[in-house]
Amino acid sequence: MFCIQTFKGEIALIDSYYTPSDLAVRLIKHVKKTRIKSVIDFCIGDGELIRAALKKWPDINCFGTDISKKSIKSVKVNHPEWKLGVCDFLNVRSQRSCKILKSRNDGFDLILLNPPFSCIGGTIHDVEFDGNAYRVSTAMKFLAESIKHLSLNGSLYAILPISIAYSQKDQKLWNILVENYFLKILEVPNGNYFKNCSPSIIFVSINDRTKLGISIEFNNISILTKNISLFRGKVSMNTIKHNRYGKYFIHSTNLRNNQIENLNYRVKNKLSEVIGPAILLPRVGTPNPSKICVISEDITYTLSDCVLAIKTKTMEEAIEIKTKILDNWGVFNNLYQGTGARYITLIRLESFFGPKKINGNTTKKLTFDHSNQIQDSQLEIHSF
Ligand SMILES: C[S@@+](CC[C@H](N)C(=O)[O-])C[C@H]1O[C@@H](n2cnc3c(N)ncnc32)[C@H](O)[C@@H]1O
Repeated sequence: MFCIQTFKGEIALIDSYYTPSDLAVRLIKHVKKTRIKSVIDFCIGDGELIRAALKKWPDINCFGTDISKKSIKSVKVNHPEWKLGVCDFLNVRSQRSCKILKSRNDGFDLILLNPPFSCIGGTIHDVEFDGNAYRVSTAMKFLAESIKHLSLNGSLYAILPISIAYSQKDQKLWNILVENYFLKILEVPNGNYFKNCSPSIIFVSINDRTKLGISIEFNNISILTKNISLFRGKVSMNTIKHNRYGKYFIHSTNLRNNQIENLNYRVKNKLSEVIGPAILLPRVGTPNPSKICVISEDITYTLSDCVLAIKTKTMEEAIEIKTKILDNWGVFNNLYQGTGARYITLIRLESFFGPKKINGNTTKKLTFDHSNQIQDSQLEIHSF
């Protein structure tokens, strides 16, 4: 990290960890488009992302900006044919006076982005997007500002901190981008890519319609899935009738502090019963790690329709899966979608467990569908 004077004369922290070459190549692999005339990186740094793009499309026009004069100077030496300029991309006035940006009224076909990650965290920026004002993280501000420079059919690919997908401060704008700009998480790469500052990262695409059916590919959260089945409770809270011969009834409010608490009703409904070992989780509401609970072997409960179960063969597997969920909370949290109350579907839950083995060796990429919860009913008891 080093400091620099910004457009407004302020002192800002600059991320000097450039994009590693292998990460740049990996990001570019996700771009399936062929008709690309122009590419830009608004924080060009060392130019690695643009170099990776040039390898794939040798004839494209390359553009780049950066707040650092030093970066721009050094990229110019290595790539005199690229169009480069100094710009504080977080500052609207600086963007307006930047010749590179002014020269492209129609925007860019391909935007590549690896904005600075603040390891210090906590910085909040104001951003205006589609006529609404938001208060967001640094990475989200870069993303939102970048989208404004896309050409009509242009698309954007970015390396971002995973926190952008689940943090409270970015939630509102994130959901807008998912719904209106085809925001997709393409990959959750594993590894320590940014030296001392190593946030977990995600690859995302914006406005790439070829990715519509695809969402997160959880290559790194692969759990032995052959022994797992997913189940959704069926009893609605407002229809419950206490029956002393029934099994204890679990609603999402009973999932607290990672255990089952305050069970008051017994309900008889064989179709809604689950036998441990299993992991229980709420189907609806703001995700909360303390609501992920394991139920013990051979104990039977009746589940409300607001509770999902991941049934396992052994207690060890149940505990392992609970640990995986909590260790990958950023990803898991993102499975809960929805404009009003957030909810998870069995399909999205299934996608968390990664590619599924078919006939022992062929692997199928699992996908989930944001739009349709009805499909869930076909999957009420689903075995892998
Ligand atoms: C992670 S590096 C990006 C590296 C680049 N994508 C590459 O391929 O090498 C982050 C870059 O953001 C630049 N930067 C930081 N704040 C900026 C701002 N407000 N406007 C534009 N660039 C900024 C830094 O100078 C640094 O070069």
